Amino acid sequence: MENMLHLRYTPSQPAALPDHYVFSSDQLPAATAADRVTLPLIDMSGDRDEVRRAILDAGKEFGFFMVVTLSSHKFRLTYQEHVVNHGVPEQVMKDMEDVCEEFFRLPAEDKAHLYSEERHKPNRIFSGATYDTGGEKYWRDCLRLALPYPVGDGTKDWPDKPEGIREKIQNFTLLTRSVGLELLRMLSEGMGLRPDYFEGEISSGDVVLNINHYPPCPNPSKTLGLPPHCDRNLITLLLPGKVYGLDVAYNGEWIKVDPVPNTLVVNFGQQLEVVTNGLLKSIEHRTVTNAAVARTAVATFLMPKPDCVIGPAEEFISKENPPCYRTVMFRDFMRIYNVVKLGSSLNLTTNLKTVQKDV
Ligand code: OGA
Ligand code: NI
Repeated sequence: MENMLHLRYTPSQPAALPDHYVFSSDQLPAATAADRVTLPLIDMSGDRDEVRRAILDAGKEFGFFMVVTLSSHKFRLTYQEHVVNHGVPEQVMKDMEDVCEEFFRLPAEDKAHLYSEERHKPNRIFSGATYDTGGEKYWRDCLRLALPYPVGDGTKDWPDKPEGIREKIQNFTLLTRSVGLELLRMLSEGMGLRPDYFEGEISSGDVVLNINHYPPCPNPSKTLGLPPHCDRNLITLLLPGKVYGLDVAYNGEWIKVDPVPNTLVVNFGQQLEVVTNGLLKSIEHRTVTNAAVARTAVATFLMPKPDCVIGPAEEFISKENPPCYRTVMFRDFMRIYNVVKLGSSLNLTTNLKTVQKDV
């Protein structure tokens, strides 16, 4: 527990940033595109053709977009075998945000049994990033949880405090998973594929949650919450929390993502990039900290099954478009691609082709 610097959340943080959290200035370029560019916000209740087009356009341009999925919205989602007409109700998002914030405020002794540095443990708390780095630490605590589907007894190793946490997290996760699958259906249709193209092994692994907690930081300009990285899964939906903290790479600059109430931030994982042979790209992002308030954000990752073999699909390959990526079992991809190279990060926008050459 001792190296969990932040876990013991207190409103008063150390006056100075400890040395091992300090990054050199070339690793910390500012969010310069912030005032000019914002991510598209897509209302999923709109006309289906328009929503589909908006998702594909935003996806190609940014690899990131925000969606509103209020309960009044009329798109159809499959949820526990039933077709229901809602996304993630406002109350479910609020309950999720509240219970996650409350969890990190619990006394350390209520969380200690969940702490582990064992990367392969599906449910645990840890501090910093799971990527290999040069030894610098990241200003983040994380409660990582895995939800199998169907759920079965998959939540038995989850925290049981505060009261109701399991039900609230499970409820949010299943609904958010459904929104993810619906987005994948719309993307498939938009790309001229059958709607269930991304159903099956590629999207039916565990849903993994990073419940990220960034305590107030004594010197936000010198450190990071998470390094520039791309998500390695299929598609990610982020509950962005109450305050800014996420930056997205765009044309060699960083865009700030200001949270909009009742929206999820969506981005493509690297498996979607591989399958589409680069038509949809997985875009680099990072998180920054702030001095005033703690930020809690929840990334929901739709994962392939570990033994799913993933490579560019034939629909995306032609004489003019030869396969740009190798075909790898998802389990192996996760093992191999576990390194983030820091530096002037935007010049090193993660290039899967280069990374895969090292395999
Ligand atoms: C992640 C991630 C963003 C955030 O966990 O992979 O990018 O705002 N999180 O915490
Ligand atoms: Ni991420």
